[in-house]
Amino acid sequence: MQVAQLSQQRQSTQVAEVIPSGKGCGAEVRGVDLRNVDGKSFGVIEKAVLEHLVVLIRGQSITDPELIAFGKRFGELEPPGMSIIGKPYIDEHPDILVISNIVENGQPQGNLGAGEAIWHTDMSYREKPVTYAILHSLEVPPTGGNTYFANQYLAYGTLSDELKKKLDGRLVIHDETYNSGGQLRKGFKEVTDPREAPGARHPIFPTHPVTGKKALYLGRRRNAYIIGLPPEESERLLDELWAHASQPKFVWGHEWGVGDTLIWDNRCLIHRRDSFDAGTRRMMHRIQIKGDRPQ
Ligand code: OGA
Ligand code: MN
Repeated sequence: MQVAQLSQQRQSTQVAEVIPSGKGCGAEVRGVDLRNVDGKSFGVIEKAVLEHLVVLIRGQSITDPELIAFGKRFGELEPPGMSIIGKPYIDEHPDILVISNIVENGQPQGNLGAGEAIWHTDMSYREKPVTYAILHSLEVPPTGGNTYFANQYLAYGTLSDELKKKLDGRLVIHDETYNSGGQLRKGFKEVTDPREAPGARHPIFPTHPVTGKKALYLGRRRNAYIIGLPPEESERLLDELWAHASQPKFVWGHEWGVGDTLIWDNRCLIHRRDSFDAGTRRMMHRIQIKGDRPQ
């Protein structure tokens, strides 16, 4: 049998299988090749993302155009937030955000460096934050740089009735000034009063447009403010809410291998990343899907 025939046969017998992590969120989907996903397998992946919030597909070998083509199955791509170099990292593919610590000739090759990326939602500082993000690994360090996700449906569901009542209908300011690695975005100035932070204002408990479930939606802690509360009370409540939102019982974490691809639903999760040895290399390409205003 010819190689082409063999691979065709393999594709036609592909059966996507979902293996839940057993943690607060997360599932692995096995038996798919992201270069060639048929309608049925795509349906399995999409359903698994909605149900488990983040899906791992291991060991994929895909080019940037293939990653982009796969991403477009979820919807239109959204260009990423402002990089730390003030322009896209890959000129031919401005929709790709490079996440990397690699520096070449004094020029960072990606965002976030090698430090910790603190808990956050992607691009929630925009009026219309992204629905899904897809992160594909090309190089991983020997240790560290693990990524963790926390289920914010569960975070909402386990809040006290008193807090739910107090906060229902309130808006939170989602600061754009810094990325989750603590790097100041190009063109932004330090914020001294969170009430004046640049970035979108979103409901604290939006309803997911597909699942119809409410989630806790905090965005990021730095320069956040719950509109209408005295600043000290907003600070105290935000500290309490963040401690609640990131409890281990809501969390699943992933230790990366080369070619691993994570797809997450950015509307009902927060995520963070461990630091790693800055002398080692980590290189990831991310795309993200256009969304609507949270309501
Ligand atoms: C991201 C992000 C985490 C990581 O891509 O949105 O937060 O593991 N990255 O690098
Ligand atoms: Mn992120």
